[in-house]
Amino acid sequence: MSLCYQTHFNPVAVKPSASRRPPKRFLVCNLSVPTSAALEADPAPIFTSVKTFAPATVANLGPGYDCFGCAVDGLGDHVTLRVDSATRAGQISISEIDGFGDSGTRLSKDPLWNCAGIAAIAVMKKLGVRSVGLSISLQKGLPLGSGLGSSAASAAAAAVAVNEIFGRRLGVQELVEAGLESEAKVSGYHADNIAPAIMGGFVLIRSYEPLKLCPLKFPDDKDLFFVLVNPEFEAPTKKMRAVLPKEVGMSHIVWNCSQALALGAAVIQGDVRELGSAMSSDRIVEPRRAPLIPGFESVKRAALEAGAYGCTISGAGPTAVAVVDDEELGLAVGAKMVEAFMKDGSLMASAVVKRLDRVGARLVSSVV
Ligand code: HSE
Repeated sequence: MSLCYQTHFNPVAVKPSASRRPPKRFLVCNLSVPTSAALEADPAPIFTSVKTFAPATVANLGPGYDCFGCAVDGLGDHVTLRVDSATRAGQISISEIDGFGDSGTRLSKDPLWNCAGIAAIAVMKKLGVRSVGLSISLQKGLPLGSGLGSSAASAAAAAVAVNEIFGRRLGVQELVEAGLESEAKVSGYHADNIAPAIMGGFVLIRSYEPLKLCPLKFPDDKDLFFVLVNPEFEAPTKKMRAVLPKEVGMSHIVWNCSQALALGAAVIQGDVRELGSAMSSDRIVEPRRAPLIPGFESVKRAALEAGAYGCTISGAGPTAVAVVDDEELGLAVGAKMVEAFMKDGSLMASAVVKRLDRVGARLVSSVV
């Protein structure tokens, strides 16, 4: 079975426009994508404003550290992007940040230090935008430092918004590259949140230099639910990356390689039991991070005892993620996990049960 296939980039309903180019097809895995050099420099916008959404993501999924992640449905960030005569041509400004908790006061409105701003600037550069200024309004639906790909969701929504306002000239490859610039600055050089946030579904990052992205398709006719349990505790990605070992013994490498391969195979086969089992089996990253998340070991045990097929840390944590193939069971598993966070970690937590997001970052609305 070949893992590399042609895919449409985010089929979304867009108002028809005479100047709009038809959606392109991209061979994602082999990077047969158009480059900016082939694009018309300094394009004109085809909309005066667009609103986009990008989903939350679960990175690593256990043994897939920095190379595997997926998007989850119904949670994420929105960006509204406007052509703005008050912003200098070729530049971006951030007019507003609101939404989850105190994100509005904690996140910088300097576009050079905001994940949405950095990704937007990177896309503008790729497009060669010089004559138009843009302003961003960011609505955070995701908590910061939660392990749900909060920074990637903002970056993905912004990257896609800029691409859409100029007529969707870039492909997924270039959008992920732009998002990765943002991730490298605010969280770390890893694409396992930004790639699924943009592309949807499960994505394998086959290599970084060059960046090779392989979507792995979970079958449409199979059920998969993620139980996401987010405790009131922050785990900054940079800090959680700093605790990881610089070198790893061969036996652990062999074990984690076999689990990562099993994970990929389970995704393609739609085998949730195997997916959970592989996801639960990381011997390199999870053991170093788990002790830093109060109660995590009990939470994992509670998830498995309640019937989940697997449980691990979502991204760099502290969110714990379990997988099941039944929504009702997911709710019961979530309740047990919340209980365990309180009992053994003294942490309040909340649980949601979500499906896989198969679409990724998308246009929500546009104004001509
Ligand atoms: N792969 C990254 C990490 C994901 O685990 O540090 C962060 O969300």
